[in-house]
Amino acid sequence: MKNIRNFCIIAHIDHGKSTLADRLLDFTGSVTDREKQDQLLDNMDLERERGITIKSHAIQMEYTYEGEDYVLNLIDTPGHVDFSYEVSRSIAACEGALLIVDAAQSIQAQTISNLYLALENDLEIIPVLNKVDLPSANPEEVTDDIVDLLGCDPEEVIHASGKTGFGVDNILKAIIERVPAPKGNVDESLQALIFDSVYNPFRGVETYFRVINGSIKKGQHIKFIATNNTYYADEVGTLKLTQVKKNEIKAGDVGYLITGIKDAREVKVGDTITDAKNPTTNAIAGFEDVKPMVFAGIYPVDTEDYEELRASMEKLQLNDASLVFEPESSAALGFGFRCGFLGMLHLEIIQERLEREFDMTVITTVPNVSYHAFTNKHPDDIIIVNNPSDLPEPSTLNRVEEPFIKASIITKSDFVGPVMSLCIEKRGKITNQTYLTTERVELSFDMPLAEIVFDFYDRLKTVSKGYASFDYSPIGMRASKLVRVDILLNSQTVDALSALIHADNAYSIGKKMTEKLRQLIPRQQFDIPVQAAIGAKIIARETIKALRKDVTAKCYGGDISRKRKLLEKQKKGKKRMRQVGNVEIPQQAFMAVLKLN
Ligand code: GTP
Repeated sequence: MKNIRNFCIIAHIDHGKSTLADRLLDFTGSVTDREKQDQLLDNMDLERERGITIKSHAIQMEYTYEGEDYVLNLIDTPGHVDFSYEVSRSIAACEGALLIVDAAQSIQAQTISNLYLALENDLEIIPVLNKVDLPSANPEEVTDDIVDLLGCDPEEVIHASGKTGFGVDNILKAIIERVPAPKGNVDESLQALIFDSVYNPFRGVETYFRVINGSIKKGQHIKFIATNNTYYADEVGTLKLTQVKKNEIKAGDVGYLITGIKDAREVKVGDTITDAKNPTTNAIAGFEDVKPMVFAGIYPVDTEDYEELRASMEKLQLNDASLVFEPESSAALGFGFRCGFLGMLHLEIIQERLEREFDMTVITTVPNVSYHAFTNKHPDDIIIVNNPSDLPEPSTLNRVEEPFIKASIITKSDFVGPVMSLCIEKRGKITNQTYLTTERVELSFDMPLAEIVFDFYDRLKTVSKGYASFDYSPIGMRASKLVRVDILLNSQTVDALSALIHADNAYSIGKKMTEKLRQLIPRQQFDIPVQAAIGAKIIARETIKALRKDVTAKCYGGDISRKRKLLEKQKKGKKRMRQVGNVEIPQQAFMAVLKLN
């Protein structure tokens, strides 16, 4: 155990985590040339295309230092706030963390939030000043920033470049010298932390774990404490670039487990694995059931594809336990599913996977967060509102609560004004303002989650010309004056376009929604009134003017095949459109109503 080091890399997005991880693998000879690929750890196609690490993985390296052989387990952490619970569990599996800071960008919001997570778990922090090869690097100043943040000596900050490989030897040396060896007792009952799982269609779910005490053996009868399910450990091993089977993984080490589980939901990140016959009495602290944060309806474009969509969603759920869904029906869209996601990125990933892997064309409705509503009759009973249509009638409604977050934004002092205006527009209340240096400010706000899940990040980047970073954490439910704004097309309510909006903004948003829909909905053979309403009260109105001519009109009397071709073309254009009543609504309209500026 004394020659094992378990560590992770934490960084703000794009500060070079994946590149540096690849360099560590190179330097320790863990990769053969054939296996070399950019961004090795991101092995899902989607991840590679987007250049972001969606799921955390682990990899084992061997390294000889001063005549001793060491095993280094690198536990990768996802870079997006949607997956912050997984980050926290990966961190909990380590004794040390490389804190990467871009030498040109300095400390950003995620640098700080990840650092706090690491400190809460008592990790040894090794600060790394990365990208020192950049002409725009500012090594002295950024080193000072790091020293201020950590209270460390400037000598402890390792200068490195993932691009050139400079400093990688010093990083490995620091991992061995500064990160403590794991503690733990091999003779105690098994206690292992699940920090990740990956679905494999042939082998079932692969569970990644860190053994805290005891050991896990091939064939052992084991139990997952949170789910109370028992299994046999069909296969255990360590994670190199490929899996290496072992007979036993002992306290302190990291490995994978295969039990034949076919449903990702049985393996919960943060759960404790123990021995079935001689279970530990201590579950590892920090287990949480991850809850979806954003809800939206997913409907087939073709109503006939409903059953196929259900089958596809079920298959997706087998390998993505954080996706939840239940059937719902919409007067406008027919049968579909109300789905819960970890955040907007997760929603986009699911939508994209449905299209790519299952060849489904779907309509996603206006996303919303989960509200709590209370009626006058039962003012203490929570009604969970995951769909605007579940909100009780205004006359019976006692109050509504919505989820709030604490937002932390780091920006240059020049942009404090515009960032504050944006946050106030989004119903934020400033709670703190700290100058990190004379030029860089950290702003804290309490804000409704609903205001940030949609387009907040894009807006923030615009108002700060890219010089703002952002992170958030939930702080609970708070009372809010919310109303449901409904949209009527041709005098018919389109339930899938309803949204819950703060009463003070309802008029202006209702107006913007109708304007946006007028632009997005194609003109048809007749005038279409677009109205926004609260209850029976119309608050805004626009009209989509009728088209003057039939597309095929000019072909009358002409060649029939030409006419057919035109109709065919028109049909193709219809993909991702839904007929609601006698109006056709394109997919963008459903999402765009929330991106109004
Ligand atoms: P996420 O996985 O999205 O969080 O990003 P990351 O932190 O893993 O960053 P990644 O390794 O993908 O690098 C981000 C960008 O910086 C890429 O374009 C890299 O080529 C570049 N980059 C990474 N390290 C260095 C470096 O040391 N020097 C220079 N010049 N560029 C670097």
